[in-house]
Amino acid sequence: MGIKKLDTIWMDGAMVPWDDASEHLLAHTMHYGVGAFEGIRAYHRADGRTAIFRLREHVERLLDSAHICTMEVPYTTDQVMKACIDVVKANKMTSCYLRPLIYLGYGALGLGSFEPPVRTMVACYEWGAYLGDDGLKKGIKCMISGFTRSNGNAVMNKGKICGQYVTSVLAKRMAIKSGFEEALMLDPKGMVAEGTGENIFVVKKDVVRTPPTSAAILSGITRDTTIQLLREQGVDVREEMMARDELYTADEVFLTGTAAEITPVRDIDHRKIGRGEAGPVTRRLQEAFFSVVKGTDTKHDHWLTYV
Ligand SMILES: Cc1ncc(COP(=O)(O)O)c(C=O)c1O
Repeated sequence: MGIKKLDTIWMDGAMVPWDDASEHLLAHTMHYGVGAFEGIRAYHRADGRTAIFRLREHVERLLDSAHICTMEVPYTTDQVMKACIDVVKANKMTSCYLRPLIYLGYGALGLGSFEPPVRTMVACYEWGAYLGDDGLKKGIKCMISGFTRSNGNAVMNKGKICGQYVTSVLAKRMAIKSGFEEALMLDPKGMVAEGTGENIFVVKKDVVRTPPTSAAILSGITRDTTIQLLREQGVDVREEMMARDELYTADEVFLTGTAAEITPVRDIDHRKIGRGEAGPVTRRLQEAFFSVVKGTDTKHDHWLTYV
């Protein structure tokens, strides 16, 4: 799934031609991973308009992640939001994935150096279903990873921080090499945390549970959307810690994320989940979600920024 070249990328306040949007090999972030990023989707809605989903919340989280990294960003939330809108327009995209990144550029490589400039970029590109169209319909096979999601002082889970994704990449690569589509991660105590780039929900006897934001998880924007949509449907949603074997015995499990959207899980560690297909709670949620982002739902217009 390569990136298809577009026209332009927003870099530090200017639109730069795609092929010129590059960085020096001695940029600080390239070596140590101190950087903040986001993943955002713009959808082509049924009325023909393009809307970016929950743009403000994504940009706020981006700036929070940069703050965690002690990077002083010279742009406001509104300015970064405008950059996102402008980059979609400039590339004439009707739907796309947006990738903002705030990073430390070229200047010095000392760990404690404040010399490298804080640089900001926003790119967009075409990206279909992250876990495949089939995955969205039929569900995916997951393994529980041996890599854990650490809590506390080692990892700043509430930020989308570049270097922290090494664990996700290693877990995901191992899952794919082992014949699975995604890895699920536990915390150091063995409690369920999240996927490598998704939050997790478990359905059992009409109750839906997901780990609380105090767990070792990213506070996902799709997770929040999911909780709100399910509660609007009258579903009992609880934010609670869960043990590994509660995944195996669930009626339904699904993953949520900007990339993964709402992806059913049909198998975990070679145990069939429920009937081994997308269950009714997951399917109703998918319908509601896709109606909000690209269908005809108008009740949740406050989540959309039209381009
Ligand atoms: C580790 C991790 N968990 C969860 C998510 C889902 O978050 P969101 O729904 O805000 O995309 C992501 C993706 O951003 C992620 O990287």
